[in-house]
Amino acid sequence: MSEKKNQKEKLWGGRFKGEAASILERIGESISFDRKLYKEDLEGSRAHAKMLHKIGILSREELQKILNGLNTIESEIDSGEFVFRSELEDIHMHVEARLTELEGEVGKKLHTGRSRNDQVAQDVRLYIRNRILEVLDRLDSLRESLYLQAERNIDTIIPGYTHLQVAQPVRASHFLLAYFWMFTRDRDFFQFAASTNDELVLGSGAMAGVNYSNDREFLASELGVPRISPNSMDAVSGRDHLLQFLFAGTQCMIHASRLCEDLILYSSQEFGLVRLPDGLTTGSSIMPQKKNPDIAELIRGKAARTIGNLNHMAVLLKGLPLTYNRDLQEDKLALFDCVETLLISLEGLEEMIRELEFRPSRGERSLKEGFATATDLADFLVGEKGVPFRTAHELVGRLVSECGEKGETLFTISEQARSAISPFFTGKEYDRAVSLELSADKKNSFGGTAKARQIEQLKIASESLKTSSRTKE
Ligand code: ARG
Repeated sequence: MSEKKNQKEKLWGGRFKGEAASILERIGESISFDRKLYKEDLEGSRAHAKMLHKIGILSREELQKILNGLNTIESEIDSGEFVFRSELEDIHMHVEARLTELEGEVGKKLHTGRSRNDQVAQDVRLYIRNRILEVLDRLDSLRESLYLQAERNIDTIIPGYTHLQVAQPVRASHFLLAYFWMFTRDRDFFQFAASTNDELVLGSGAMAGVNYSNDREFLASELGVPRISPNSMDAVSGRDHLLQFLFAGTQCMIHASRLCEDLILYSSQEFGLVRLPDGLTTGSSIMPQKKNPDIAELIRGKAARTIGNLNHMAVLLKGLPLTYNRDLQEDKLALFDCVETLLISLEGLEEMIRELEFRPSRGERSLKEGFATATDLADFLVGEKGVPFRTAHELVGRLVSECGEKGETLFTISEQARSAISPFFTGKEYDRAVSLELSADKKNSFGGTAKARQIEQLKIASESLKTSSRTKE
């Protein structure tokens, strides 16, 4: 812990006498986490300094000294030699104090026409915008892996489930593309979240605006943001931009968690539909046979944290009066945690998907044992034999029950036993009616599991990937 400091020596210490209580320093510091904002804080300060020069507050020489100092600080932080001290509270104070150490009195001019309230609000917006670019990259790699696996597994037939009971045969591509579309929607959501962060806040001051003629247009173009906040009170105290990121992050982690849950189930002994690579699973210290899907479980667990972060932010904001309140300092903990969780989870998920292997024989066994084509057999009676649906349902129900009693499937029960239930349950027609692959191909509605529809869906997905890579440039 740092030694006690006279309040007077603090950057805000003018009106204070005596020592700061240790608890004040310990509860008030945010440098232990907000140092993550240093790049954006320096970016904002450079733009602000240039603006101060433009409006005549800093001379050319003063601006140059400030820019040099800010560059030195950046390389000191980059290389790890910068000394952080909790009595300097936050990243903003650290930069200003070091600037003054390096460049002398001129460092004290940088904060003209600016408050930490608009400064931090700007830093966080820039930070979110930058991190969303990284999230989009990870999302796109994941989407690409899902796409490639879908392409590879278009002929792999697996069970589709409802109520976690075997429902109907689907192509594995169909399952994988279902997640592809979820992550595509997340991508759109993140882009929207990025646009809410694309706003110039500097010039809002503590909350009422500033006493200088800050050129906000100039600042916006320096920072590359398209919009200028129209209300300084809203700008310093609103955190919708952060909430939007957490909304998008939460939706994305919910999708990631559902995919992990499917991978955990499907890779289990009971389902056996997929195999996860050894390098992405762990063993047990006691049970030699175990192969545990830890990454998937951890991502499922991390989704809980993200949902917690969203909740943290919602509760933090809901009773807060205008404008800035110190509570808002805590917003960054939810934000940083969400960013880190997303990045590592998307990376883990991408690796699992990339190396996933399907085990078609296990899928076929479940489908057969689960009577997955019973509906198709009933539809055959209706469509080709003119049997009313209710009667067809009843006949197939009896056949399924007979199979159950004898320990048979629709594929192994004797023709004799079948024809005792219906004379139509015979010959090649019957075989075609219960075939797994044909069942899939009969689901030929747009968005369905028929091969032609899957080829069509892959094309749409590939277009979507191309559009995503174009929008990144
Ligand atoms: N560290 C502070 C935060 O993150 C910066 C703003 C401080 N403003 C103030 N009035 N004390 O919210």
